[in-house]
Amino acid sequence: MIRFIDLFCGVGGIRIGMESQGFKCVMSSDINTECQRTYEENFHELPLGDITKIDAKDVSDHDILCAGFPCQPFSISGKQKGFEDTRGTLFFEICRIIDEKRPKVVFLENVKHLIHHNHGETLAVILSKLEGLGYKVSWEVLNGSDFGVPQNRERIIIVGSRTGKFDFEKIKTIPRGRLIDFLDSDGDFEYLDSGEYTLLEATKQQPGSGLIFAGYRNKSIRKVGVRPGTEHLSRVHKQPNRIYSVYGIHPTLPSQETSGRYFILTEDNRVRKLTLNECWRIMGFPKEYKKISAVGEQYKQLGNSVCVPMISAVAEEINNQFFKEVNKQ
Ligand SMILES: C[S@@+](CC[C@H](N)C(=O)[O-])C[C@H]1O[C@@H](n2cnc3c(N)ncnc32)[C@H](O)[C@@H]1O
Repeated sequence: MIRFIDLFCGVGGIRIGMESQGFKCVMSSDINTECQRTYEENFHELPLGDITKIDAKDVSDHDILCAGFPCQPFSISGKQKGFEDTRGTLFFEICRIIDEKRPKVVFLENVKHLIHHNHGETLAVILSKLEGLGYKVSWEVLNGSDFGVPQNRERIIIVGSRTGKFDFEKIKTIPRGRLIDFLDSDGDFEYLDSGEYTLLEATKQQPGSGLIFAGYRNKSIRKVGVRPGTEHLSRVHKQPNRIYSVYGIHPTLPSQETSGRYFILTEDNRVRKLTLNECWRIMGFPKEYKKISAVGEQYKQLGNSVCVPMISAVAEEINNQFFKEVNKQ
């Protein structure tokens, strides 16, 4: 039995992916009580709270440490030091547990921006700390849209192992889905009136990304500080005003968008909001997943979470490369 711990577990997106490969969760932690409530409802386990209050010696033995941790700047560089220079950051909490428990594999997930954070210093410190703790580390930016869900969601995945470098090339991708195949067939949809939006004469396929830009909502235009003649661009460029065709994919669902202003141009040429359920679906959550928090809270939870099929695909390769009998060292 391969055991993992689920740190910064949120609502358990990483857990679902890991469990899909038969791995068993032996401990979870999140400070947010609404996430804890949702997690308990689904996994029948109340996550422990603030990681900074958990003694590493009390953490259950495990083979894989998983953490989709919040991204914070590391103010002090000093890559050659122990891990004292990350003290005060949540990454330090992960190092503390790794140092005590020595799991065979470490799996970290974060926003793509981590690469550029603090001019690349944050990622450099993370990698060097893991190496200092005895891990061979590799990382890659993966996109949810390469794993069957119709969402452009790029995330950095860092895998460290005590036995060998993880090979991202072996991860099996899944053909890109289209929004239209992930929508509710009926329901109480929130349509916009035709006066509330402007459609482009021809939709614009954004090269490579799979996004098809179809129009924008006619919200008031910001005029202050905007160059004359370019006023309309401010509403086109503001993400919550943009409308995307259901024949393509959707941009990243961010955690800050707590009112779910995600608008799509449907098959019958009408514009409506994605429903909350559709948002969970394009994160790849299974239909039996129980959502119990208030609406705004759910938008935050799913925006903070992961595309589940992407995690499953990485977990499958972690299993193949580090735990299958033939690969055991
Ligand atoms: C990016 S989210 C991870 C979401 C998760 N991967 C999922 O699938 O839902 C980061 C999480 O870290 C939690 N967090 C922040 N500070 C924490 C702390 N001191 N102890 C435990 N959890 C913390 C937040 O509540 C949040 O749910």
